[in-house]
Amino acid sequence: MSDTDFPYGNPADSDAGLLIRREKLLGKNAPLFYEQPLHLVRGEGVHLYDADGQQYLDVYNNVANVGHCHPRVVQALSTQAATLNIHTRYLHETILEYGENLTKTFADPLSMVMFTCTGSEANDLAMRMARHTTGAKGIICTNETYHGNTAAVDALATLFGGGQPRGENVKSVPFPDGYRPQDNLHGRALCDAYLRAIDQAIAEFEEEGVGFAGVLMCPIFANEAVPSVPAGYLSGVADRVRANNGLLIFDEVQSGFGRTGSMWGYEFVGVQPDIVTLGKPMGNGHPIAGVVASPELVNSFRADVMYFNTFAGNPVSCAVAKAVLEVVHEEKLVQNAEDVGHYLRAGLCDLQQHYDAIGDVRGPGLFIGVELVRDRISKAPAPELAARVINKMKAKHVLISKIGPFDNVLKIRPPIVFSKENADQLLETLDLVLKELALEDGVL
Ligand SMILES: Cc1ncc(COP(=O)(O)O)c(C=O)c1O
Repeated sequence: MSDTDFPYGNPADSDAGLLIRREKLLGKNAPLFYEQPLHLVRGEGVHLYDADGQQYLDVYNNVANVGHCHPRVVQALSTQAATLNIHTRYLHETILEYGENLTKTFADPLSMVMFTCTGSEANDLAMRMARHTTGAKGIICTNETYHGNTAAVDALATLFGGGQPRGENVKSVPFPDGYRPQDNLHGRALCDAYLRAIDQAIAEFEEEGVGFAGVLMCPIFANEAVPSVPAGYLSGVADRVRANNGLLIFDEVQSGFGRTGSMWGYEFVGVQPDIVTLGKPMGNGHPIAGVVASPELVNSFRADVMYFNTFAGNPVSCAVAKAVLEVVHEEKLVQNAEDVGHYLRAGLCDLQQHYDAIGDVRGPGLFIGVELVRDRISKAPAPELAARVINKMKAKHVLISKIGPFDNVLKIRPPIVFSKENADQLLETLDLVLKELALEDGVL
């Protein structure tokens, strides 16, 4: 077969052509962003470029935490890839150097790491560790969550399961929500109501003979649309977990590596877990993830379970992740997430003064949720408006998305190299889009 006979489509295909090929290969429901999908070809810092050379401000991608194609990370990857890459049953300095640098950023006794390739695998492994250590099976999660796609972790995917977990030995509790509070409660009473659901789930696991292994939650409830959490909720959860001999697992796949303005989400919320899971930003796009826990937990698990993962923590992945961690420290990106996040939230609160459709602005560091509502009194969600806003923003070359139980919360979560000038561009574009929508059909 000659090059010209290549039967699988023309490399110079239009976007419509790519869509047809994609659907044929990956299936009709393979997810894609935006009414008119984006065909990206290049990234640099906080910018992405499409096939026509158009520049977009990336206000969505937390994976490219230190900026797209950061030269230091690219260099680390290519140097190690040109030297050695191998599976993980050999000695290698970089793996240990990275593991040491990483675990130094955690508080005692979180001093050991097990590498995985994805956040899903990390959560899967954390659940195995919790079940192994406690000898019980029951895991508690929230009713609007997502922690990954392995069979065990998919059992927790209440976000796609109508609020109910999709597998056995899992119970969901209402996520703590300060904007749409359960029974219109407030303060301590609201916190206590949410904590009672934890007590009840633990009691049910015991009655059913399943036993209680632990709680798996994101400390900032990223997939629950970064709700304002009643004070004392997470420490109340931790108290209950420990009183019932379970383990507290924090899924830091989204909240880790500086996103919140603290290095780790657990520091931001002031509650220390027994196990932390990591992923997305860890390799700035390269697939590396992991579980951090105490020597006691890791060693007792390893004593009984031969855990091996062909690709996880290989020399190239560790060289990349080591460079990412160095960039986070040297460019002071944790502080940047705090400073720019503060600036951006203030700008969004200003916009809220002008648009009734903005019901709530919330979230830590550079993870901000802007909840759109039909009116502020009823708080009726406005998902169609959120869809229109993100598509219009994209047409003006600013990329955001939406999330939440009602799909009505604008999701603002850029690489943490995002600057105040970038924040200004986002704010000006959002203002323009909301103005246009108001003029178009008075939806605001
Ligand atoms: C909080 C959280 N945990 C885990 C995962 C799964 O990570 P991965 O897609 O790398 O398996 C995700 C993915 O969106 C996530 O948001």
